[in-house]
Amino acid sequence: MSESSAPGRLSDAVLYQIYPQSFADSDGDGVGDVRGVTERLEHLAWLGVGAIWLNPCFASPMRDAGYDVSDYFGIAPRYGDNDDLVKLVDEARGRGIRVLLDLVPGHTSDRHPWFRASAQNPDDHRYIWAQEVDGALPQRFVPSPGARPGGYLPNFFDFQPALNFGYARTDPAEPWRQAVDADGPRANRDALREIMRHWLALGVSGFRVDMASSLVKDDPGFVETGKLWSELRGWLDREYPDASLLAEWGDPAVAVPAGFHGDFFLQFGGAADGLPLRSLWHTHTATDREEWGDAPCYFDAEARGSAGTFLSAYAQAVATIGEPGHVILPTANHDFARLHCAPRPAEQLPAAFAFQLTFPAVPAIYYGDEIGMRYVPDLPDTEGSVLGPHYNRAGSRTPMQWDQGPNAGFSTAPAERLYLPVDPDPRRPDVASQRADENSLLHLVRDLIALRRATPELGPSGSLEVLHDGYPLTYIRGGRYLVVINPSARTVEFAHGRTGLAGATPVRHSGVAVDADALTAQPFAFGIFRF
Ligand code: GLC
Repeated sequence: MSESSAPGRLSDAVLYQIYPQSFADSDGDGVGDVRGVTERLEHLAWLGVGAIWLNPCFASPMRDAGYDVSDYFGIAPRYGDNDDLVKLVDEARGRGIRVLLDLVPGHTSDRHPWFRASAQNPDDHRYIWAQEVDGALPQRFVPSPGARPGGYLPNFFDFQPALNFGYARTDPAEPWRQAVDADGPRANRDALREIMRHWLALGVSGFRVDMASSLVKDDPGFVETGKLWSELRGWLDREYPDASLLAEWGDPAVAVPAGFHGDFFLQFGGAADGLPLRSLWHTHTATDREEWGDAPCYFDAEARGSAGTFLSAYAQAVATIGEPGHVILPTANHDFARLHCAPRPAEQLPAAFAFQLTFPAVPAIYYGDEIGMRYVPDLPDTEGSVLGPHYNRAGSRTPMQWDQGPNAGFSTAPAERLYLPVDPDPRRPDVASQRADENSLLHLVRDLIALRRATPELGPSGSLEVLHDGYPLTYIRGGRYLVVINPSARTVEFAHGRTGLAGATPVRHSGVAVDADALTAQPFAFGIFRF
């Protein structure tokens, strides 16, 4: 049995993120569902992924696409029911794939029965309520929708009231700041455990935790939030030692010591507000914020970036968390642009995957990125996708392109009933034709995953020695594998000055030549060599 198929091991797995709305529709109503995922497990097993993370699939009014939960214990009817999930989990396990769910602990929907009750009862403290002073609510509070006077604190959108996990600093002048061990916060901690137990008992392998750093308010250094997660992690280690807890925190160096097995580099989060990931492959045309500036990223066809920012953030994170904490490196996710996003040319995608799948982090592939689906611009606001004038998440959430048919094989429903339109570009890539073409991106991604699984040196625990962080990016893994990545449209050279590289055996490459003193990489080339 290879390490990656051992139970409980996420470190060697490639993670695959599924947006259930858009992945596969088994009943033809135009919206993806859990059975659809089960029917498509063959694709995931063929690809070689070891775990899937499903975006929220619990009952919800879907004003933030499911991140507004109204029942933590049941699958949203549009996705099926709990039995469908159990079936998915079982069939996935049979193929060596673990299933992780998205846990949204920091807020509920304003339609959740807990919140409805809280909005009527001034003695309820599951949420954070404040009174008006001189006719005004404190900043950020939203007027009560119920008989209860005053207002509540939202966590993200206004319809997502923050659950009360207390404040790290109380203040008699602000009586809504309860201590972390007050009754409301305690009840919420207990509820979290109950929710996790419910799904773990049904066979899921863990959770990706939404806005994991947001629980305890006004918490300098996340000390109290860390205590909360460490306590839950301790419980998990005792009762479900194989379960994984992954954070949406955007700062592995903080999230892992706080209790998580792993954390994603994200386009936001951490002291540098997501700069490490953005410096790698962020484009400025799709899911962007003004304050992020317009510095070019490293995966820039004109070779204007540097990999240094990302690499030093990575090195710093690893130095802080050590083994066995995981830094997770996503191609994209449901909140930011896909890898294939203008102006990035599709020609660059092989080099991007060669980098991601030979780098010592846990790779997370966002559904559809393995065939190079593109970010589709200018889609209408869909279930809360628009976050700003230049920040529309819908473009990363379009239906998985299974085949060439008018609905891309996504559904038998009429196109107008689809959750989001299929990419209208007639040259859009699809799974069926890429599977039939051994030179496709899909086959390359599959081969790279297989290589990674078969080669411990290329996994998270193999050493990393960076020889060059300009163009081409050049590094050595596990003392035996040379990796060369050229995201640019130029032919670039690097004088490696190392003895012993000249005779290196190509393992997988396209357009890279290594000689005694230097290496040369053609436009968009990549190479993996053994020496
Ligand atoms: C996270 C999710 C995002 C959601 C938000 C509020 O950032 O990834 O999609 O809108 O939290 O729950």
